[in-house]
Amino acid sequence: MIDTHCHLSMVLDENKNIDYNQICDILKQMKLNGVTHAITVGSNMRDSELSVEIAKHYDNIYCAVGVHPEEVESFDIVELEDLVKTNLNSGKVVAIGEIGLDYYWRKDNKEAQIEIFKKQIELAKKYNLPIVVHCRDAYGDTLEILKQYAPFDKGGVIHCYSGSIEWANVVIKLGFLISFTGVVTYPNASNVQEVAKWVDIDKFMVETDSPFLTPVPFRGKKNNPSYVRYTLEYIAKLKNKEIQEIDKNTTNNAIKLFKLKIK
Ligand code: NI
Repeated sequence: MIDTHCHLSMVLDENKNIDYNQICDILKQMKLNGVTHAITVGSNMRDSELSVEIAKHYDNIYCAVGVHPEEVESFDIVELEDLVKTNLNSGKVVAIGEIGLDYYWRKDNKEAQIEIFKKQIELAKKYNLPIVVHCRDAYGDTLEILKQYAPFDKGGVIHCYSGSIEWANVVIKLGFLISFTGVVTYPNASNVQEVAKWVDIDKFMVETDSPFLTPVPFRGKKNNPSYVRYTLEYIAKLKNKEIQEIDKNTTNNAIKLFKLKIK
C-alpha cells in the first residue's frame, strides 16, 4: 500500500526544521498498517526543498516538487528547475507537483496561477516527469490547459479527486489517473463515492493529503500516511471488491506512474 500524496515537509519542529523524530514515528505507524511507501509532495519552493531532503533520507519515501496555485508568490522557475536537475539522478524526485488551479481560495490572480501552471507542465515535459494536479473550482480552465499540452506521455494524476464522472472520463482519456483522499469516506461526499464506484481499478490511486483530510474513523484528528489504509478499505467496500485486490492494483498503478524503483 502506497500513500501517493502527503506533506511530510509540514512535520516541523518549533524551529521550523524537519522533525525527524516525528517522521520516524509516522514511518513506524505506516509499517504497522501495511503502508510500505509514501510520496511527499511540495507546495512551495521551501517545502519542495524539504521534500527532497526527506525523500533522500528514507529508502521508502519519494517526492514531488512544485508550486501549488495558492503559493504563486513563492514561484521561481530557475530555482525549481535547479532543484529538479540537481536531484533527478537520485531517483527520488518522481513528479512535478502539486501544480494546478484553485479558484476556491482566490479568483483575483487567475492569470498568475495559469502562468505558473503552464511553466511547470513544460518543466515536467522537459524532464520526462509525470505531474500531480490540484484542481479546485477550476475544472474548465484546468481541462483547457491539459488539452493544450496533451499528450502526456509520462502521465499524471488529478489528486484529491472531487469532480464529476464526466470530467474524470475526459482526463482519464488524456492519460491521467485520479486519486482519492479520506474525503471519500465522509458521509456528505456522495459525488466522490459515485466516482470511486465508477472508476476502473487500473485508473486510480489512494492518498492521504496528510496532515489534512483525515479519513473516517479518525476524522477530526491529525492525518498521517498510515491512515491511507482506511480510504483504501472504504473504496474496496464501495466497489464490492477484496481489499487485497484494490491494494494490489492501486499500488501497481502508483509504481507504474511514478516509476518507483522499489527495493
Ligand atoms: Ni496536497
